[in-house]
Amino acid sequence: SKQHSDINKKALVTSGPTHEPIDPVRYIANRSSGRQGHAIAAALAARGIETTLVSGPTDLPDPKGVNVIRVESAEQMLSACNDQLPIDVAICAAAVADWRVKDAGSQKMKKETGGLPTLELVENPDILHAISSRKKQRPDLVVGFAAETENVVKNATAKRLRKGCDWILANDVSIGTGTFGGEKNAIHFITDDGCEDWPHMTKQAVAERLVDSIVSHFSVPGKD
Ligand code: C5P
Repeated sequence: SKQHSDINKKALVTSGPTHEPIDPVRYIANRSSGRQGHAIAAALAARGIETTLVSGPTDLPDPKGVNVIRVESAEQMLSACNDQLPIDVAICAAAVADWRVKDAGSQKMKKETGGLPTLELVENPDILHAISSRKKQRPDLVVGFAAETENVVKNATAKRLRKGCDWILANDVSIGTGTFGGEKNAIHFITDDGCEDWPHMTKQAVAERLVDSIVSHFSVPGKD
């Protein structure tokens, strides 16, 4: 039986790193664990919100009650996200690779060929920007993250406008904060109304507070 839903909305979350192929056996990756994105998907589902998680490769178990679509590359992630539209709220928490290898080979590169390979890179699609700037089927609410090491609020405020998203959760990841790969986050919650500093809290607590904000947003008369 389906759980009672706090709001009758559909949510999409991106999470994890992407893997960008070099050849059939090699790839470029990053250290994202996927913990924050997976926690958000779990928190949405726990509130009875219909949730799809588009995840890059992670070791994490699938969150309970979530429709999980596994992808590897940024291009696959974008097309999996587009396949989910229309949705009401999109939360982009994935650490998408900025670049991919141009013309990744379909055969394994061989060192016996001699010489050193050169990897030519091309820019990946920006999924948050692509979803935010859609003319058709733009979600009512688009949420992004910003990992910053200095001028956190100023940079994240500029990023919110550049990306065209509605909310940004800015994370101070400077050395000593222990955020990257760690258990806790220090979030500055940036919206059109300004910035709200959240206390240092676990990624699960960040997820729950974000979902509270999403539920309130859609519960305000006139915004439903
Ligand atoms: O530009 P930057 O990587 O700092 O932006 C971070 C935000 O943008 C995150 O919400 C991330 O999920 C999203 N992003 C994306 N696609 C990219 C790069 C970033 O969705 N190619």
